[in-house]
Amino acid sequence: MLFLGGALYAYGLDSHLKEYLKTLKQGDAKMAVVFSTSWISKHSIDLIKKGLSKAGIPVAEEAFYARNKPSQAQLEEAAAFARAELTAREPL
Ligand SMILES: Cc1cc2nc3c(=O)[nH]c(=O)nc-3n(C[C@H](O)[C@H](O)[C@H](O)COP(=O)(O)O)c2cc1C
Repeated sequence: MLFLGGALYAYGLDSHLKEYLKTLKQGDAKMAVVFSTSWISKHSIDLIKKGLSKAGIPVAEEAFYARNKPSQAQLEEAAAFARAELTAREPL
């Protein structure tokens, strides 16, 4: 299971994340789960999902999103989300 996330910068993904997505290929992960932060737009989630799909990696429909810097409560939500995704897909 690959958990992959990043923020949105000027309507796009960070160049390191874009480059990383290009290196991925089918079989690198059985499944991917996406998370993101941003100021307002959730477009980063679509962009990351698109890159993963292009690489041939199945992507979970649900994604985790928090606005700007996540609060402690949101960090705990993120951890619970990750645990739930892992449990739901066990055994991969
Ligand atoms: C240069 C820059 C450009 C940004 N562009 C956008 C944007 O187009 N849309 C948006 O919703 N948030 C935008 N943001 C907000 C970031 O996505 C948000 O602050 C994010 O949580 C930053 O995560 P980081 O601290 O891990 O880099 C931008 C932030 C910066 C610094």
